[in-house]
Amino acid sequence: MAESTKTATLTIDGQDYELPIYSPTAGPDVIDIRKLYGQAGVFTYDPGFTSTASTDSTITFIDGGKGELLHRGYPIDQLAEKSHYLEVCYLLLYGELPSAAKLEEFESLVTHHTMLHEQMMNFFRGFRRDAHPMAIMVGVVGAMSAFYHDSTDINDPHQREVATIRLIAKMPTVAAMAYKYHIGQPFVYPRNDLDYASNFLNMCFSVPAEKYEVNPVLSRAMDRIFTLHADHEQNASTSTVRLASSSGANPFACIAAGIACLWGPAHGGANQACLEMLEEIGSVDRIPEFIERAKDKNDPFRLMGFGHRVYKNFDPRATVMKESADEVLDLLGIENNPKLQVAKALEKQALEDPYFKEKKLFPNVDFYSGIILEAMGFPTSMFTPIFALARTVGWISQWSEQLADPQLKIGRPRQLYKGETSRDYVDIENR
Ligand code: ACO
Repeated sequence: MAESTKTATLTIDGQDYELPIYSPTAGPDVIDIRKLYGQAGVFTYDPGFTSTASTDSTITFIDGGKGELLHRGYPIDQLAEKSHYLEVCYLLLYGELPSAAKLEEFESLVTHHTMLHEQMMNFFRGFRRDAHPMAIMVGVVGAMSAFYHDSTDINDPHQREVATIRLIAKMPTVAAMAYKYHIGQPFVYPRNDLDYASNFLNMCFSVPAEKYEVNPVLSRAMDRIFTLHADHEQNASTSTVRLASSSGANPFACIAAGIACLWGPAHGGANQACLEMLEEIGSVDRIPEFIERAKDKNDPFRLMGFGHRVYKNFDPRATVMKESADEVLDLLGIENNPKLQVAKALEKQALEDPYFKEKKLFPNVDFYSGIILEAMGFPTSMFTPIFALARTVGWISQWSEQLADPQLKIGRPRQLYKGETSRDYVDIENR
């Protein structure tokens, strides 16, 4: 923690309390309230953590006003254009871009951990055949805690690293197998001669009955989707992983908790919800009706893929994703894709609408990702599992950072209690 250079004064009932203020390398200052309860006997109140920094971190920085996302200082658009997913994984995990030799060693390590223990297939087979792949992923990743006992001593940095590599390496296998099970096709095992994204596409789309060649443009687009989703600082699922891990829980169980949180439509589930919304809108002429519904406070409908807790400007990932959508549809010869047309027109109309302007609601990363994934052949149910696969490195980097932090404390929020105060139990015959 940085030294405090400024203080804030809080006055309660005429009594002053001095609170240290810390300045980060980027972003707003933070007021340290850790001693507040001990000194003043009050809690702070911040449901949804809209103004609360839960941790120090050196991994990812977002300037929501500028629409900037940096991983270890490097802007996401540069990483999406010049780097690739496994290099970004290395950067997130170790803090610096790797040398060529280090990258090769890291890629080889990940590549040689992609297989799942064969007994894990029984877990997949235990699910109902139409189970959502996210339900399978939560279960199977949680079950990994029962398989990899040699990487669960969280106090041993080596074991932490082994768990990290295992998760990054095996997550595509888990996601692809969840998909294969969900559609009733045989599991396809990982291939170590393919790069990370191509291997995932092969495990999803090849079948034993015929040859499947991975298209390098699609593989590049897949890799870019992974890169764009790799980390996003203290979002809901990452905070879930950190909170679960703060008790010293098993690493695989912590990541399963992150997957569970990501599933919700306000978070990772938005990409599936967004494509379903574009489908429901159906044609450009129906857009005004849906915009009106999104603005109506009595209607629970929201424009999915629009708005963000942190970005109050363009989500920089959405800009790259939009370009990728054009490239992929062009490559696949999908002209006049109705959903892309609706998406582009919806974006334009919403951005011109005073409601969206005033509330600073812009398209987020999920607005265009579904269109690319659908064009590649993924059903909507696979969109969030792909997000989970890509975000695993973010979760596990933040988990590693947290466990290496000597200040680590179990996460334990307080509350503003509004229930009954102490009262005597009433016997059933007297109620
Ligand atoms: N459509 C219509 N109105 C919206 C939308 C939207 N998509 N998003 C926010 N608003 C409005 C709210 O009604 C609210 O209006 P009010 O001030 O008049 O009450 C205001 O904008 C602020 O919204 P909040 O919900 O308070 O903002 P919050 O930061 O809590 O929510 C969230 C952010 C959950 C992302 C929200 O914008 C949303 O539900 N968007 C749609 C779902 C989505 O795309 N999620 C993906 C997020 S990115 C990710 O996880 C990868």
